[in-house]
Amino acid sequence: APRPVEGARGLRFAPVAPNTADQVTVPAGYSQNVVIRWGEPILRGAPAFDADKQSAKAQAGQFGYNNDFLSLLPLRGEPNRQLLVANHEYTDEILMFRGYDPENPTREQVEIAWAAHGLSVVAVEGERRTGRLAPVSRHHLNRRLTATSRFELTGPAAGGALVRTSADRTGRTVLGTLNNCAGGTTPWGTTLHGEENFNQYFAHASSATDKRYGIGTGASERKWERFDKRFDLAQEPNEAHRFGWVVELDPYDPESTPRKRTALGRFKHEAAQPRLTDDGRVVVYMGDDERFDYFYKFVSSQRMKKGNSRAAHEHNLTLLDEGTLYVAKLTGDSPATEIDGTGKLPSDGEFDGSGTWIPLATAGPRGEAVSHVPGMTAEEVYVFTRLAGDKVGATKMDRPEDIEPSPRTGRVYVVLTNNADRGKAGKAGADEANPRNLNKHGQILELAEHRDDPASERFAWRLFLVAGDPADPATYFAGFPKEKVSPISCPDNVTFDPHGNLWISTDGNQLGSHDGLFGVATRGERRGELRQFLTVPTGAETCGPIVQDRRVLVAVQHPGEIDGASVEKPASVWPDGPGRIVRPSVVAVWRTDGEDIGL
Ligand code: FEO
Ligand code: CA
Ligand code: CA
Ligand code: CA
Repeated sequence: APRPVEGARGLRFAPVAPNTADQVTVPAGYSQNVVIRWGEPILRGAPAFDADKQSAKAQAGQFGYNNDFLSLLPLRGEPNRQLLVANHEYTDEILMFRGYDPENPTREQVEIAWAAHGLSVVAVEGERRTGRLAPVSRHHLNRRLTATSRFELTGPAAGGALVRTSADRTGRTVLGTLNNCAGGTTPWGTTLHGEENFNQYFAHASSATDKRYGIGTGASERKWERFDKRFDLAQEPNEAHRFGWVVELDPYDPESTPRKRTALGRFKHEAAQPRLTDDGRVVVYMGDDERFDYFYKFVSSQRMKKGNSRAAHEHNLTLLDEGTLYVAKLTGDSPATEIDGTGKLPSDGEFDGSGTWIPLATAGPRGEAVSHVPGMTAEEVYVFTRLAGDKVGATKMDRPEDIEPSPRTGRVYVVLTNNADRGKAGKAGADEANPRNLNKHGQILELAEHRDDPASERFAWRLFLVAGDPADPATYFAGFPKEKVSPISCPDNVTFDPHGNLWISTDGNQLGSHDGLFGVATRGERRGELRQFLTVPTGAETCGPIVQDRRVLVAVQHPGEIDGASVEKPASVWPDGPGRIVRPSVVAVWRTDGEDIGL
């Protein structure tokens, strides 16, 4: 058993020290297992993984690459089983294929990459006494969705001129989902998946709007346009408009077509986390992960129907098509002269202020919509949402990643991962919500909706955490004594444990050690006491955290992704050791004595 450690309930573990070990390091008294690896067969007929004999057909039945967001859903009537839903954000060809030539990918390599993107649904089975989990291959709900599966566009932009292509003149059917980063789980049992850096898959952009979304004018990095002309915007200019959406998947219905919900806007969606208003409407918080971009929320017009009836479920599957999309504007309460760009606290002792949710457009029940942005049609607001945010003067943030409301307090945590360009020549300088220039380590903002109404158009905010080495005077841990906290850099995904503590995973640690997972109390005397729970292998980021009573789950994404590394010259040999190919994988962690996490 672990030695007793003082701390908030759920966070009583000995913190893991920062390190650079090529492994998942967990606290003393905790155990772990690899739940599922890239390439493990999940569908009937899929072969066992063989890195040297991989094929697109095999990959389409196997767990995809670069697992990111995770959701664990109940499986009624199946004791000790749950349904795992995973995002597969992108592929690292140089770490997947022996002898990969980035200038000349083969058709088979490209088709394997298409099949390694997307989403996986896979039943997992646990032992009663531990947190160990293993996949149930060939479960009837197991499913793969890839870059070539059928998706439906729904909501106000569906069917419009901006999303029609030569292959889809209706503008309603898209092949594939790309770059699914973080996501969310709805109260009606579906999962949401944010299409993030979709720009990288497209070649030969020429429009100003494509430029605003970061799509390049030359060839794409992966050269997919050589194998399918839809990735060449010179030939198919609207194809990129069909990516950058929030996808809703019904994992309990393996026959269902997943939907891209256009009412939630188009940008580099990091995540989408829903909650309910007191009267049952749905509010979804969303970040656009780009330097100087915005964060958003969607408020549905209709109320969620409770219960397990088919009619209720069908109704709930329309909630995200009808409602209002907002963007956030923040104002600090301290004089601008007190925000000097170093992270020094202003004289009122807090980075804080007020904010408004600015409405951008409202979608009605049959796809009709009204724009609230002068000079833009509703269709333009939905497809070019970033430009709508520009027009209304939304606040330029330090890369908004995951955003989650606390199920205990209703406060919303907005994760701002970093922004090395803040304060550079020609760029916006520090403001109270983004108080450091050349911001390497990021911050977490705590937002309180006016009168605790998630649909409110007003809010208050303050910074909860200004990340970095606690010895650095420019860091802040909600006022908690800094000599007692773990260093943290580049927060990215967040979740809550059953006690209401916030758990934070990181991506891109700038303090010289590996990324990891941290827990922090948000209430009480220990508010701000941050502890590192685990670290991940060389080159990896920590994703998809889930914290249950007796189990922590993380997605270890892009292990071994270090400049110059390849299959032949690996930077990591996780999880299978020397001589074996590095594989992004999901890991479960539990207390070895079978007791609750952190108690
Ligand atoms: Fe895919 Fe913003 O992390
Ligand atoms: Ca202030
Ligand atoms: Ca992320
Ligand atoms: Ca990230």
